[in-house]
Amino acid sequence: MTDTPETSPTANSMWGGRFAAGPDAIMEAINASIGFDQRMSAQDIRGSRAHAAMLAAQGIISPSDAEAIREGLLTVLSEIEGGRFTFSTALEDIHMNVEARLKELIGEPAGRLHTARSRNDQVATDFRLWVRDQCDAAVQGLRALIGALLAQAEAGADWVMPGFTHLQTAQPVTWGHHMMAYVEMLGRDIGRFTDARARMNECPLGAAALAGTGFPIDRHATAQALGFDRPTANSLDAVSDRDFALEFLSASAICATHLSRLAEELVIWSSAQFRFVAMSDKWSTGSSIMPQKRNPDAAELIRAKIGRILGAAVALFTVMKGLPLAYSKDMQEDKEQVFDAADTLMLALAAMTGMMSDLTVNRDRLEVAASSGFSTATDLADWLVREAGLPFRDAHHATGALVAAAERRGVDLPDLTLAEMQAVNSAITQQVYAVLGVHNSVASRQSYGGTAPDQVRAQIARWKGAMEGWR
Ligand code: ARG
Repeated sequence: MTDTPETSPTANSMWGGRFAAGPDAIMEAINASIGFDQRMSAQDIRGSRAHAAMLAAQGIISPSDAEAIREGLLTVLSEIEGGRFTFSTALEDIHMNVEARLKELIGEPAGRLHTARSRNDQVATDFRLWVRDQCDAAVQGLRALIGALLAQAEAGADWVMPGFTHLQTAQPVTWGHHMMAYVEMLGRDIGRFTDARARMNECPLGAAALAGTGFPIDRHATAQALGFDRPTANSLDAVSDRDFALEFLSASAICATHLSRLAEELVIWSSAQFRFVAMSDKWSTGSSIMPQKRNPDAAELIRAKIGRILGAAVALFTVMKGLPLAYSKDMQEDKEQVFDAADTLMLALAAMTGMMSDLTVNRDRLEVAASSGFSTATDLADWLVREAGLPFRDAHHATGALVAAAERRGVDLPDLTLAEMQAVNSAITQQVYAVLGVHNSVASRQSYGGTAPDQVRAQIARWKGAMEGWR
């Protein structure tokens, strides 16, 4: 694909009827979108082919003209896909570049293609088709990542690790449970892209410039030919709505936020201080000066990508706010943001899937860390409530005193002697030691959605069932 378009000083052949001279070179530079909207060439040609077929079916153009247009458009597509197409800045955008080339190829019938249509409904249609494909791609990418996380969760459904609040050791949880937390988030992301896709799946084509058209077109036919559920119901809205793009960017920003959180955990967990996980060589880089370094660059970059994606969302919200109906050229600023956000999201999803599939988990380190930091203090307090009949607040207080005692001695809770325990509360018996172990702790968290391995396995099974349904 040639992406440095040629320029020309003559009046535009598409709308130059009332213009004596061509635009200033700088005007051409700010006005043209061909440098980026050539990414929508397949969608543009698909839309034009459907439009031509409909015009012929409605008797608006002749069947032979429609045939010449539809065949010629396939030639244009193959030229573009084969990198044999010369894009022209003078022709502004993908719509006029395609039409001008069609004219060179088939002559006069090319001029009939734009009957009952405007670039306003054309670009809205092309862009919806493009964003709709990206919703599908995001869902595919998310499913792959969920698959990788489920494999991690299944392997470590009963591996014990510290659960954190405030990044301080809170209570033991299982590795599987932690992985499944991300599966839940990413599952909601799939829901958002699916919802957005369903809402955007209405066809703007035939809204024409803004008011509809006097030609007897069949909007239901073009909508169906392009895989839309129905035509849009208001022509002004059809050409000026970009909330489908805003929804895509919003869903992308939320998804990228989830990826960023997981990436941050990988960065922390792979540090020398944690050593919970090790990334494979494929997903690490070295330092040019410090030979010992193994840097989690991919994770750091995924952590950062939300900046670009949210930036794109903010940019397009800002462009759209305050725009009067219907089309304004401001809206040409929609595409680069969405293109960049989509590319960024797909890359981040693929990289995260690769990293998670390849991750080595240091199960022993997880367990050692889970067993330190008084992680079973809540289990001890719960035991005092259950077995000694203490009100929870009193149990909390007594446990706090035991933690302080252990801290003074530089040991953890299970290392306190029974005598030391009874000095704080005389109701404590030998039985208390059973709940101080991390495995017992997680196994006891049997409430629905809790961290007990049985609960985690039930959720894994539920998600695997959903994965089967996706095939
Ligand atoms: N390149 C334009 C865009 O991306 C296509 C629509 C142009 N419409 C117009 N009335 N100038 O928005």
